Amino acid sequence: MDMLKRPRRLRRKESIRKMVRETRMDKSSLIYPMFVQEGKNIEEEIPSMEGQYRYSIDRMPFELERLLKAGVDKVMIFGIPDHKDECGSSAFAEDGIVQRAIREAKEKFPQLYLITDVCMCEYTSHGHCGMLKGHEVDNDATLELLSKTALSHVEAGADMVAPSDMMDGRIRAIRTCLDEHNFKDTPIMSYAVKYASAFYGPFREAANSAPSFGDRKSYQMDFHNKKEGIKEAFLDIEEGADIIMVKPALSYLDVINEVSQKITLPVAAYSVSGEYAMVKAAAKLGYIDEERVICEMATSTYRAGADIYITYFAKELAKFMDEGR
Ligand code: PBG
Ligand code: ZN
Repeated sequence: MDMLKRPRRLRRKESIRKMVRETRMDKSSLIYPMFVQEGKNIEEEIPSMEGQYRYSIDRMPFELERLLKAGVDKVMIFGIPDHKDECGSSAFAEDGIVQRAIREAKEKFPQLYLITDVCMCEYTSHGHCGMLKGHEVDNDATLELLSKTALSHVEAGADMVAPSDMMDGRIRAIRTCLDEHNFKDTPIMSYAVKYASAFYGPFREAANSAPSFGDRKSYQMDFHNKKEGIKEAFLDIEEGADIIMVKPALSYLDVINEVSQKITLPVAAYSVSGEYAMVKAAAKLGYIDEERVICEMATSTYRAGADIYITYFAKELAKFMDEGR
């Protein structure tokens, strides 16, 4: 038989397989999402996210230290306040949970790169991502609250802000506000391509942020749409975003791929709480090999075109990436 082409030649040994790898990953591209809450001496496991915790500010540094030791130096902070009201006022309070967490983290670990999630849903009594007018989220009234919130995070020392609310025009509003207050050099990572997804379920339990009525479909995108995601990405680029995020990751690899081909900004992909919970639950039942699935999910996200990976598995992945898995 005259067979000239044998792709298996390059698969014969681990060493050559690694030599011809097309996707290479580095832990410097990882961001770890972390929940911070009020109180003292709290490190409370999130029931639907085994291995993930809500930390009080005094306990947070222990986890930050473990992250740094693992080689993860970028953290995205989510706050769980004690007080909620109609307009989410503790989101932009100078002594709010995120603002204090940022100050504490910066003081203890100046080498950390701190990103904050900017949204209202953890802080509003109704659980929606903005101010309500009747039963609808009032887009333009919300922009001011978001700008105030972002500014208060940056004033506390945040290195980057990441608005996740999906209001129209919020990147422009936040950019303008930061610039006016002399924070021209603080980047914005926009959750530009964010879908209304059932994969956020465990997060909403963790952050106690589920809407008390209705859903988020009037602001987050319909998952049947891809062009709409491209449109959102371009709008946010025009408004001054520095990084474009696609969220969730696993079921949206086609979107990540298209966004990364169409834009010139770095693309971040957020592997959300439901993705984490599925892996944990299946692994616990012995149905899948957790470590191998984590690596495969991460690799597929980078292979699709992501430059940055936001994941609850960041600590584990940092090690796997170093090992070339
Ligand atoms: C806040 C926010 C959410 C997530 C990140 N920021 C929840 C939501 O939009 O309902 C989801 C993260 C995750 O599921 O891991 N708007
Ligand atoms: Zn929100």
